[in-house]
Parts: sequence; structure tokens; C-alpha cells
Amino acid sequence: MKATAIAPANIAFIKYWGKKDEELRLPTNGSISMNLSNLLTTTTVEFSSRYKKDEILINNKIDEKENKRVENFLDKVRQMAKSNLRAKVVSENNFPKSGGLASSASGFAALTVAATASIGLNLSKEELSILARIGSGSACRSIPHGFVEWFEGNDSQSSFAQSIHPADYWNILDIIVIFQKGDKKITSTDGQKLVKTSLFFKERLNNIKNKIENIKELIKQKDFINFGELVEKEALELHAIMLTSDPPILYLQPKSIEIIQAVWQWRSEGLSVYFTIDAGPNIHLICQEKDQKQLVDKLQKIKGIKYIVNSPTVGTRLTKKYLF
Ligand code: DP6
Repeated sequence: MKATAIAPANIAFIKYWGKKDEELRLPTNGSISMNLSNLLTTTTVEFSSRYKKDEILINNKIDEKENKRVENFLDKVRQMAKSNLRAKVVSENNFPKSGGLASSASGFAALTVAATASIGLNLSKEELSILARIGSGSACRSIPHGFVEWFEGNDSQSSFAQSIHPADYWNILDIIVIFQKGDKKITSTDGQKLVKTSLFFKERLNNIKNKIENIKELIKQKDFINFGELVEKEALELHAIMLTSDPPILYLQPKSIEIIQAVWQWRSEGLSVYFTIDAGPNIHLICQEKDQKQLVDKLQKIKGIKYIVNSPTVGTRLTKKYLF
């Protein structure tokens, strides 16, 4: 049977960076995120005896390394379903493949839901999140709706993501400022392997549980200013860890710094905007919907950038549209 799923990418307010189990992708800490309405992956999967081997087409391209990761994931699905059928997978993003745009999160979330439906596995949301996590850690947060918490857990069964608020709970936006195209040089999987070499990492883990409680409380209270400040500090802490890893990882570019300084300038002028950054140079601007126009007016004056406006959205869902 053919099945198609649509999955959103997500932006983490408290980040996942580091694994205590590489293969199972068990994180060293929990994380908190929001699904993004305009970064979507659509994936159609069909398991059938007609296919002699897995046929995988992502964004109209055949990329050996990426396809291997998808094949390994399909093996896991086959193992769960006790099947040896091969599959055809066609997947498309509605956004450019750019540094740090979370394509593995939406990609593996869509693949999880489409592949399990196609092979006839009837999994709960929790089980889907666990399976997506094994494909790519952050993908487990794209399964549930809206604002999401990924529990660190101590084994595979206890490390999954759950919705903490629905998408329409809080009308904040993530406006992603994009200026770098193409793949980043160090993948987030590889970057994370270095996390323990940073002197700051231990200190981060000492504080992380408090941070997660704080951010959840600020979201609950819809306290945008304190929320934004914590989100920004968290992004800088993540990049401090990257910079102090051995060898160091530098994802930021001159344009990233220019945008960060612009955000601080705009804030000093009274515009309530904060930033966060993932494993790439592009900058995510977090603002309230009421300030969107003012912020977009400012962005339109900056040369050499594009931007994508995202509101919080639902999680991964099946659809009747098929890509083949
Ligand atoms: C910086 O989920 O891409 O975006 O599990 O190795 O596939 P793998 O890593 P990935 O890491 C995401 C890192 C991050 C922070 C976050 O999304 O929490």
C-alpha cells in the first residue's frame, strides 16, 4: 500500500546537542521545540514485492550517503513489521536545502509515518516518535503537535517527544533569515560527536534541567521577553560549546554576526525580537505576530538574504496526495 506523510521541521528553544547512545540516538539532555509551518517535507512510501531493492529519491536526486541512512531506517521498519519487502521512497522539501534548516527532522518524521503506514504497522504517537528519533534525533519532536518536549529518557522506550501545547496556543513566529545555500560542512551528527571535548559541556548538563523547567514555565505564562532572553542565551551557549570543541566547529558566518547585531540594535530601539541558531549560519528570529510587519520591513532592507515566516503548526500527518 502507498502512503504519504507531511511533516514539519521544528526549531528547538532548548537544544539537543550530544548523545549518550549513538546508535539509538539517545540524547544527553531533553529539549523543547516548536513545529514550523513553512518548512515541510512530503514523503510517499510504497513497500511492494515489485521492488527488488529500495529505490530512494530525495528532492529529485540520488545521494548515496543520504540514501544509505534511509535504507538503514527502512531495515528497522522491516524488522519491526517482520517483512522483507523493499520500498520505493520519494521525498520533497518545500524549502531550500540550506545550512541548519532541519531537513533531517522533517525528513525522518515524514518517512516514519509514511513507511509505517505503508507496511501496515499501527503505531501510537509515542512509538512513532521513538522510531523517528532513531532516524534523526530532532525528528522525534516533529511527530507531535505544536509546542513539544523531548524527554531525555534512559532507554529507547522512555526517550520520545510529546506535545506540551497545541499549535494555536501562542502566536509567536520563527522568521528564518537565510543567506547560505547548500550543505553545511560538518553535519549535526558529526558535530555532536565532539561535544564532550568542550570544557563547558559538563557545566551545561549541570544546568539543563533547570533551563528546561524555566522555558516551560515561560511558555506557559506566555512571558515573551523572558522567554526570548532565555532562548537567545541557549543558542549562544550551544555555539560556545561548538567553538570550544576539539577540533572547534564554527557554523557562524560574517552575515550571521551582522544579523545578531541587528537584532540587538532593533531590540534597543524597542522591537521585541530574539534569535536562535542551529547547526548552521542561518539565523532564526523569534517574534510575536503583532511585530511581524515591523520586523519584515527591516529585513527587506538587508541585501543578500531571504526569509521564511513560520508560525507554530501541527505535527506529522498522513495525506492522500501521492508523489508517484
Ligand atoms: C542543533 O537531529 O540533526 O538542530 O540525531 O545526529 O540526526 P542527529 O542530529 P540532529 O541534531 C539537531 C541539532 C540542533 C539542535 C536541535 O534541533 O535540538
